[in-house]
Amino acid sequence: MNAPLSTFEQHESSARSYCRDFPVVFDRARDSHLHDEQGRRYIDFLCGAGAMNYGHNNEHAKRAVLEYMAADSIMMSLDLHSASKRAFIEAFQEIVLAPRGYQYRLQFTSPTGTSVVESSVKLARKITGRQNVVAFTNAYHGMSGVSLSLTGSRHHRQAVAHGAVTRMPYDGYVPGLDSVDLLRRYLDDASSGVDLPAAVVLESVQGEGGLNVASVEWLRALRELTRERGIAMIVDEVQAGCGRTGRFFGFERAGIQPDMVCLSKSIGGLGLPMAVLLIHPELDKWRPGEDNGTFRGNNLAFVAATEVLQRYWRDGEFEQALREKEQLVRTSLAAIAQAHPQRIVGIRGIGLMQGLEFRDGEDVSTLIGECFRHQLVVECCGARGQVLKLMPALTIEPAVLRQGLEIIADACQRLFGHAAHAPTDADADADAELAVAP
Ligand SMILES: Cc1ncc(COP(=O)(O)O)c(C=O)c1O
Repeated sequence: MNAPLSTFEQHESSARSYCRDFPVVFDRARDSHLHDEQGRRYIDFLCGAGAMNYGHNNEHAKRAVLEYMAADSIMMSLDLHSASKRAFIEAFQEIVLAPRGYQYRLQFTSPTGTSVVESSVKLARKITGRQNVVAFTNAYHGMSGVSLSLTGSRHHRQAVAHGAVTRMPYDGYVPGLDSVDLLRRYLDDASSGVDLPAAVVLESVQGEGGLNVASVEWLRALRELTRERGIAMIVDEVQAGCGRTGRFFGFERAGIQPDMVCLSKSIGGLGLPMAVLLIHPELDKWRPGEDNGTFRGNNLAFVAATEVLQRYWRDGEFEQALREKEQLVRTSLAAIAQAHPQRIVGIRGIGLMQGLEFRDGEDVSTLIGECFRHQLVVECCGARGQVLKLMPALTIEPAVLRQGLEIIADACQRLFGHAAHAPTDADADADAELAVAP
């Protein structure tokens, strides 16, 4: 048994997962770097599975939180009114919702991604009086009851069985198939076996499912159909939200307003637990206390969340920097893909949730190990673990981003042969020619 890991191996449940790929003990973290107990430094492209969009110990959020604590301000407030919650609501309204023309009430649910999804479906079922919910192939919505029943992965769902979910193909799952049109036909046909659902729940970009990007047309068509039939459109932005796709919301690119939006992970600014359900005002039909929970008042999260909104989302500068980083990632991944056509199918994803799809998930698993030996923490996604998934902090320095990309390129070269060179202007042209799987 590895001595530094023996405590975990002897006493922690076998349910643990991420740590198995990265068998060290992490100790400190700052911006885009993690440090282990032995003093080795790693570039972090895992980013708390999307909870650390603003980097570890983000200096602005950390300072705000430390000042807040030093003043003996309230830390835990259930759903009592608190000054820091008010500041967050006002900042979110002013910086995120108003400029985009969105109208939502904010419900602070229990702080995980799975809880906010649970709350959204519970509300849709309550309002409509219907049970059925439409979810999509390769969806990931969390590991508790209802969220788990919406999740596509058989591996994850095997722990419990759940009904009342109609599974439809996500955009692009069956090439050439318009699954919104298919859903319309099902709903029009009393013998289709598909009951009118309370809600359609989707990710605007599927993170765990393989970096699948829903097209603008598909998102708009789904919005139209759900509005036409009185079905709640719930967009789970737990992973794709808070800037991950290059804009605050992943669905913004389609110019739609969903009925409900689920936020968690990076909304807490500093990796602090917090979740918010955005509810169209007409659908806010909860009775007081009907969707309760103890941990809905994490004031440290409100403070950090307010600080990062003020700091990064007030003007377009941050989004412009995101576009440049998105392009850098795309160009580098294109060069790697071109160097290994026998192994790599293409690039997937958008913004700073992009990746490389391999033919064989085993290659990705080997690559993750090789990257880790060279001090890069990066994970996989997709049904077969076939997609190497890059989730750098949105605030990452371009030089560090480049370093991480070089580690991947060099690791591919060592494992699979042919050289992938650092990105040049010529790559940008080649990039346009490469088959890019959305
Ligand atoms: C889109 C999406 N929804 C929900 C969840 C569940 O979040 P949590 O693990 O905080 O319950 C995740 C987690 O990865 C996710 O990616």
